[in-house]
Amino acid sequence: MRRCDAAMSDSLGPDTAGPPGVGPGVRRRLGGAPQRPGVDMTVQIGSVQLANPVMTASGTAGYGAELAAYMDLASLGAFVTKSLSPFAWDGNPAPRVVGASAGMLNAVGLQNPGVEAWRENELPRLQRTSARVVGSIWGRTAADYAAAAEALAGAGLTALEVNVSCPNLEGRGRMFACDPSATADAIAASTAAGVPVWAKLTPNVTDLVEIAAAALEAGAEALTLINTVLGMSIDPVTAKPTLGIGGGGLSGPAIRPVAVRAVYDIRAALGEVPIVGVGGIAKGSHAAELMAAGASAVQIGTASFYDPRAPRGVLDDLRNWCKQHGVAAAAELTGRAHRSAAASGTAGGPRSGPSADLSDD
Ligand SMILES: Cc1cc2nc3c(=O)[nH]c(=O)nc-3n(C[C@H](O)[C@H](O)[C@H](O)COP(=O)(O)O)c2cc1C
Repeated sequence: MRRCDAAMSDSLGPDTAGPPGVGPGVRRRLGGAPQRPGVDMTVQIGSVQLANPVMTASGTAGYGAELAAYMDLASLGAFVTKSLSPFAWDGNPAPRVVGASAGMLNAVGLQNPGVEAWRENELPRLQRTSARVVGSIWGRTAADYAAAAEALAGAGLTALEVNVSCPNLEGRGRMFACDPSATADAIAASTAAGVPVWAKLTPNVTDLVEIAAAALEAGAEALTLINTVLGMSIDPVTAKPTLGIGGGGLSGPAIRPVAVRAVYDIRAALGEVPIVGVGGIAKGSHAAELMAAGASAVQIGTASFYDPRAPRGVLDDLRNWCKQHGVAAAAELTGRAHRSAAASGTAGGPRSGPSADLSDD
C-alpha cells in the first residue's frame, strides 16, 4: 500500500494544470478553496517499495555513515554502498580523481575493504541510522560475484546492486558489462544474496538493449543506468595523463544526456522494466527528466562531491517540483516522455532504438 511522505502533507495554493502525461494533482476540500495535497513520493522498483525515489550513487557516498553528519540518511529512498568485492582491494594509483568540464574523471579502481570486513565494521553503523541499504558488489569472476553475494545474505539489505563494469578475468579482461553472457553469469551468481538484484550497466557498449535484456533474463529485477562514461584528460605541458592509471570514467552534468538516452532507449525497447536512473543529477528537475525517460527512481553521485547534502537537496527539490507542476505522486513521472510520444504519434519512431540512430545529434 502506498503511503504519503509525511513531510509532504502540507497544502498549497490554487490549482495549476499539470504537465502532459501526469494525472490531476489537485483535490478540492469540501466547501473550501482548491487544495493541492502533499505529494506521494513512494515508488516501486520491481518488488522493492521505497519511501521516495532518491538514493545515493555507489562509490560517491562512502561505505557507511560518513554522510550521516550532513543529512538524515533514513530520509532518502535508500543508501547505496560503494562496490564491495569478496577480497580487500587497494584500487588504482593516485591521482584518482580530477576535475573535468561539467563533471569529473575518476579512476578510483573499486578500492574497498572486502565485503566481510564491511559487513562487520561498517554496516552496523549504517543500519543504526535506519537508512534502507542497497549493497553494491563487484568481482573479477562469476565466482567472485557469488562469493560477495553469499557474504551479504541475511544482512538486511533492501536490494543488491551488481556493478558489472569491471574486467572479467575469464573473459580476457573484457568488462562483464560489455558482453551479454558474462553479464548474465555475474547477475545469476549474485542472486545468492537472496534479495532483489539490480544490474548496474555501463553505457560504453554498442548495444545496451542486448546487455540489459541478458541481465533481466538472468534474474535482475531492475537496471541501474548508467555507470561512468569512458574518458581521459592529458596535461598538455607534461603530455602525461592527469589520472594515475591513464583513463578513467566521466561523471557529473556532462553525462546526464547520455543517461537520459540510455534510460529512454531501454524503456522504448524493453517496455516497463524497473530502471534506476543515474548520471549528472543535481536538482529536482534533473530527477524528473530521468524519470520521464523511464526511471522509477534516481541516484545522486558527483553532485555529492560539490555538496554532501546533495541527495537530500534533490529529494526536497523534486518534491517541490512535483508540487509546482501539479504532480500528485512521484511515480506518475516514470515514463512520461513515452506517454507524451505515444500521444503525439511519435512512439516507436525512428529514434526509439539505438540501432536506428543515424544522425550526428
Ligand atoms: C569517485 C567515483 C567512484 C565511483 N565508484 C563506483 C563504484 O564503486 N561502483 C559503482 O557501481 N559505480 C561507481 N561510480 C559511478 C557512480 O555510481 C555513477 O554511476 C556515476 O558517477 C554517474 O552518476 P553521477 O554523474 O551522478 O556521478 C563512481 C563514481 C565516482 C565519481
